Amino acid sequence: MTTNEIRQSFLDFFKNKSHQIVDSSSLIPADPTALFTSAGMQQFVPYLSGEAEPPYNRACSVQKCFRTSDVDEIGDEFHHTFFEMLGNWSFGDYFKEEAIQWALELLVDNYYLEKDRLWVTIFKGEKNIPYDKEAEKIWQKNGIVKNKIKQFGSADNFWGPVGSTGPCGPCSEIHYDRGKEFQKDKCTLPKCGPNCGCGRFVEIWNLVFMEYNTAEKGEYKKLKKQNIDTGAGLERLACVLQNKESDYETDLFLPIIREIEKISQKADLSKQKSGRIIADHIRAICFLIADGVLPSKEDRGYILRRILRRAMRHGRLIEAEKGFLIPLAQVVIKQYHNIYPELKNEQSDILTIIQKEQEKFEKTLSQGLKKFKKLVSKVYSLRSKVIDGKDTFHLYDTYGFPLELTKEMAEEEGLKIDEKAFEKEFEHHREISRAGAKKKFGGVGEWGDKVAPHHTATHLLHKALQQVLGDHVQQAGSDLTPERLRFDFSHSQKMTDEEIKKVEEIVNQKIKEELEVKMEEMSYEQATEKGALAFFKEKYPKIVKVYSIGGNSLTSSEPPFSREICAGPHVKNTNEIGQFKIVKEKASGAGIRRIKAVIENQNGKIKMENDPSSKAKLTTGQAL
Ligand code: SER
Repeated sequence: MTTNEIRQSFLDFFKNKSHQIVDSSSLIPADPTALFTSAGMQQFVPYLSGEAEPPYNRACSVQKCFRTSDVDEIGDEFHHTFFEMLGNWSFGDYFKEEAIQWALELLVDNYYLEKDRLWVTIFKGEKNIPYDKEAEKIWQKNGIVKNKIKQFGSADNFWGPVGSTGPCGPCSEIHYDRGKEFQKDKCTLPKCGPNCGCGRFVEIWNLVFMEYNTAEKGEYKKLKKQNIDTGAGLERLACVLQNKESDYETDLFLPIIREIEKISQKADLSKQKSGRIIADHIRAICFLIADGVLPSKEDRGYILRRILRRAMRHGRLIEAEKGFLIPLAQVVIKQYHNIYPELKNEQSDILTIIQKEQEKFEKTLSQGLKKFKKLVSKVYSLRSKVIDGKDTFHLYDTYGFPLELTKEMAEEEGLKIDEKAFEKEFEHHREISRAGAKKKFGGVGEWGDKVAPHHTATHLLHKALQQVLGDHVQQAGSDLTPERLRFDFSHSQKMTDEEIKKVEEIVNQKIKEELEVKMEEMSYEQATEKGALAFFKEKYPKIVKVYSIGGNSLTSSEPPFSREICAGPHVKNTNEIGQFKIVKEKASGAGIRRIKAVIENQNGKIKMENDPSSKAKLTTGQAL
């Protein structure tokens, strides 16, 4: 079975069981506190937690996911940064009985897995949450014998919440027994089994019985409704269904691996660490850029830069020709664009950004590697095992080696790096450059200052689009940089030149009217009563910020031009924005259009409304 067939068969199966097929959401989650989308359930959190009324009770999807937690594991058979997750959901509708029965039905009747090879795990009870007797009974009723049902604690069989709060619950995992030949060393049954880690058993599907909510860490309250949240990693499922030793030998990876082999003139790279790392990272790189992540010094952009540079270093190890990431990206785009049209739509951005990053790092990579070799000799000659903080910082600062890259290289030499000393050095240099920046720009110049005009312009644009195209226009995504804004919205046709002009005129008119931008805090219910736009996919806290542009305030009867629930930051007055101009309008997925717009002749001093420091931050390596 090809992976295309696996995906389709999954969706068809659940569609036949009255599930709404929902498109994958972006890798950049709506929840501003999460760095990436790492599970299929993220776009459904408001429905699972009961905060929002779901438009359907059952859903299924194939979700793009990115996990940083597994980045050091890449190189083994089954871990990835980017992967696709198949999932089905019940929002207060069916529960354990159907979830278990259907999972088995799909695996055995549609995917033709031998039932005898399926083992499951159940929650053994912890944290005042009882042992999942009910799940055990249902598995047995469905033909899984007792000795193939194993109990585990919360580390393995309690899922969520994604951050520190939110919906969660006990789970049951389905594991596939690949057989004795995959067992390592002296590991034997009955000791060997699910979660043994020797390679014989592969976890293929996680069924979460989501009936708890945690508002405070460690406090579990029953949700009003019982939900189902399931997730099956497509790469692993393909590995099992295609009877391969690792995910890298499935049809998902082989075209990429073959291209790496061609470029490096090496064989068997699907079994080799560098081949696997490059294949994993190039997929992630393409998908991240397609969703609007740009390489940078912090947050998401830092992660992207880090994997780009790591892939390039591994390219060196297998003697891949210079610029090798470009042909690989082309293979990824070709392979996936039918399912994820954003790859085709953003093709030129993907290739240009990779190209620029390659050129930048290629300049320092060789010298940095030489420097590293010298450092290793120095450490050996001192009979030490640790590369010190100043040297690690030097590699980082002068040669652009991310901390994690140096760490990986050190480990290959049997050495360590002194991370604490690196951090200290890093902080020291940051203080110096901050002081410099302050002198130069008078203290203004954080990210929020720079994106605020584009952010306020986005609100104006949203409203203008509704006025020109109709009320069906809903925000589907937004991305801001100091240089431009990008806005995705629901609309099925290409906008005419006339419509684009009209929208620009409205936005520029509102800028000219010097409208005040006001922020007020209130409950979510109050905000929606007042007509503030909210996006149903987002998860809102109890008290939300509402930004109104024009009108006086929420107590006044004069309606504002725009009112949205939003975390900010915004300018204080539209006169701080400048001339608004749409530079691109194009499709971005089914029924979604994308606008890129810029602000010209930006005037006035930008004042800060608030600071976007709620954004998830990385703890290390923030400047690169
Ligand atoms: N949320 C669960 C997971 O990510 C099931 O989808 O494993």
